Amino acid sequence: MTPKARKGIILAAGSGTRLYPATFPTSKVLLPVYDRPMIYYPLSTLISAGIRDILVITNEADRPNFVRTLGDGSQFGVRITYALQKVPRGISDAFIVGEDFIDGDPCTLILGDNIFGGYDMERLMNEAAEDEENATIFTRWVPDPKRFGVAEFDDEGRVLSIEEKPEEPKSEYAIVGLYFLPGDAPGKAKTLKPSKRGELEITDLNRLYLDEGRLKMKKIDARTRWIDAGTFDSLLEASLYVSDMEKKNGEKILCPEIEALKKGFVTKAQMQEWISRNKCNDYFKDVVRFMKKFKGPL
Ligand code: DAU
Repeated sequence: MTPKARKGIILAAGSGTRLYPATFPTSKVLLPVYDRPMIYYPLSTLISAGIRDILVITNEADRPNFVRTLGDGSQFGVRITYALQKVPRGISDAFIVGEDFIDGDPCTLILGDNIFGGYDMERLMNEAAEDEENATIFTRWVPDPKRFGVAEFDDEGRVLSIEEKPEEPKSEYAIVGLYFLPGDAPGKAKTLKPSKRGELEITDLNRLYLDEGRLKMKKIDARTRWIDAGTFDSLLEASLYVSDMEKKNGEKILCPEIEALKKGFVTKAQMQEWISRNKCNDYFKDVVRFMKKFKGPL
């Protein structure tokens, strides 16, 4: 059977209060991380996972800014549509808001403020995408697990328990903000009850899969960078990481234009046309430099 085309959701509806006053003018997910809006990073991750049909969930006030930033996604060879989350009811609510868009297909949810750099993510995501019956979470070692969803697992990587921001974490492995869920996620999300903090927790949704023996876990290598850019310090850390890596590599990283070219979502001619509509500044000059040496479709 040919696998169904996996859909993608970027959740970007938060009110950004933790970053006031930086987020007075706009959503956290549109603040710059080095030289581009934060949403370019989760978008680039979805594109590198081969996902072309993408729903961006925003709040009402910030929606026009997102539409102005990404449009219909054609510059990246993807289809971007938008949906509103009027009240921040929790991360699992993305599957309820996005139910019509998902339409029974497997779906990947990425949090708008999660940045994944470098080593091995594409391979792990490809493996997760092939499994349409089970849910896949990704974990990474962190020094401060209490701040995150935490997974406990055995030596074979089988998940034993998952908890949201536990007082006494059972492991040092955080569940990162990237979830590969099967087509039945919206129905399951609708059965959830709000947690003590009043949210439909993503950890509770994943626990339903765990209880059915359908939750898989992939460990992200310590060489892969994961940044939840939701605090002042991690926002700065993200910018420094991208700028450092690009200077070291002599090439842009996590750049949706480049990922789209690599995936064959756009041709060089289409990309050239998009670039010519913008001022050819240092960002676009780097994309052009990549295009010149890239042996992909003209
Ligand atoms: O970053 C990974 C962590 O993300 C996971 O380890 C946790 O299990 C998961 O619950 C989540 O924890 P956070 O405390 O970081 O979630 P936060 O409330 O900050 O929301 C993450 C992003 O999602 C943020 O950019 C705002 C957006 N959001 C959040 C909620 C609750 C929405 O757009 N709508 C919502 O209803």
